[in-house]
Amino acid sequence: MNSSTKNRKDIRFLGDMPADEFRKFGYELIDWIANYLENIEGYTVLSCVKPGDIRKQLPLSPPDEGEGMRKILSDVDKIITPGVTHWNHPYFMAYFNSSSSGPGILAELLSAAFNSNGMLWRTNPSSAELEQHTLQWLREMLGLPEGFWGIIYDTASTASMHAIAAARQQAGINVREKGLAGRNDVPKLRLYASEQAHSSIDKSAITLGIGLDALRKIPTDDGFRMIPDELDKAIQEDKKSGLLPFCIVATVGTTSTTSIDPVDKIADICERENLWLHVDGAHGGTAAIIPEMRWIFKGVERADSFLINPHKWLFHPVDITAFYTRKPEVLKRAFSLVADYLKTPEENIVDNYMDYGIQLGRRFRALKLWFIIRYFGVEGLRDRLRYHLFLGKEFTKWVDGHPDFERMAPVPMSTICFRLHPKNINEENELEKLNLRFFNELDTSGDIMVSHTRLNAKYVLRVNMSGLRMELKHIEKAWEIIRIKAEEILGDL
Ligand SMILES: Cc1ncc(COP(=O)(O)O)c(C=O)c1O
Repeated sequence: MNSSTKNRKDIRFLGDMPADEFRKFGYELIDWIANYLENIEGYTVLSCVKPGDIRKQLPLSPPDEGEGMRKILSDVDKIITPGVTHWNHPYFMAYFNSSSSGPGILAELLSAAFNSNGMLWRTNPSSAELEQHTLQWLREMLGLPEGFWGIIYDTASTASMHAIAAARQQAGINVREKGLAGRNDVPKLRLYASEQAHSSIDKSAITLGIGLDALRKIPTDDGFRMIPDELDKAIQEDKKSGLLPFCIVATVGTTSTTSIDPVDKIADICERENLWLHVDGAHGGTAAIIPEMRWIFKGVERADSFLINPHKWLFHPVDITAFYTRKPEVLKRAFSLVADYLKTPEENIVDNYMDYGIQLGRRFRALKLWFIIRYFGVEGLRDRLRYHLFLGKEFTKWVDGHPDFERMAPVPMSTICFRLHPKNINEENELEKLNLRFFNELDTSGDIMVSHTRLNAKYVLRVNMSGLRMELKHIEKAWEIIRIKAEEILGDL
């Protein structure tokens, strides 16, 4: 029956997928996912498609009539899966590998089924309370004291933007009402982060109208850690020039090398200068759940805000960021704006999460935190992270022991930066060309996926070990692939 002959008063043609059909394809899809994860090594890590290959296979216009699930699922196999880069793959060693887990996937499914928008406490009390509760669990796991209030945002980028907005609110220049443009009663603002800080801090400066010029990048030491004396010097210089310092972002686990800024010393400066201290622990901060790694968070208890990304190193499907602040009232002052239709009788006794950020609607992300912490247990999560640290140490030994490789940074966690550097080549230009070629050939092989970065202006390769499915045998094999490729290229020269 086509749309013109349907009886529009007949509810059978409206409404949702029938329950039986949902059940049938739901079971099928769960089987598909179980097989996918079980056989993940059968896929090439990096998708081999070329730009435009996926769209070429899709019809120009959407279908007028509904299509069956069978057809849709078969197109997942035919069109979508070949165009996916497999972050769950044990040979995915690029970036910070966000790998998903069974309990996380099931929680996402349930969250989509409830589809309950947690903008207010009353629009999903379970979401509001589970969020507060699981974030307190996580705070305890990280070894941090009470007094931090938590909220879940999507990404670390969004969370840092909120931290910097709260810092600006604390600076007392009333941007909320007056904005920044066209004012001559406000000096230029100054935000500080190390030269190794993530680009999301630059993007926050763009988004918040502070401007990139307001972000001062502080030099780092030979371990890529912010130098507190340089920070102090910069602040004094800026104050003398009439600028208004308002926020410092320290990083625990920088993107390139996982270096750890000396948060304790930076906190001394923040307290003396009355500046907001935000700590970006997106990937590396998670390691503080291991008691013997707690030292990385020394000083974070004095921060005004910090974040970690469970979607990076805690096996949560993208996305979820745990953000904490000791000053939720400042964050609320920066963002709360309650339209009449959003007023509720209990607003003075509960937290309505819409008051603490730019978004109104919010997904039920706390479910995955709850499922994952309960399923693996705190010790189970610690053991998995410890194993990754062990894998990192093994890989470091192999790089250090090979005459044609040079390690380019300390390895505080499980991310290793290295380059090909045979004894007979010392010209930086040559090494750059050599390593670009090395990276490109590894990348196009599809066997493993590594990433690259630049340290002290040198092009380096970077591998990271935090995937849930990574075992020693994968790291050994990856090292063999890297070695053989290096031998091929050096043999060619
Ligand atoms: C230190 C650090 N902060 C922030 C981010 C941004 O994370 P997200 O993608 O969650 O915004 C990253 C990403 O790798 C990161 O390494």
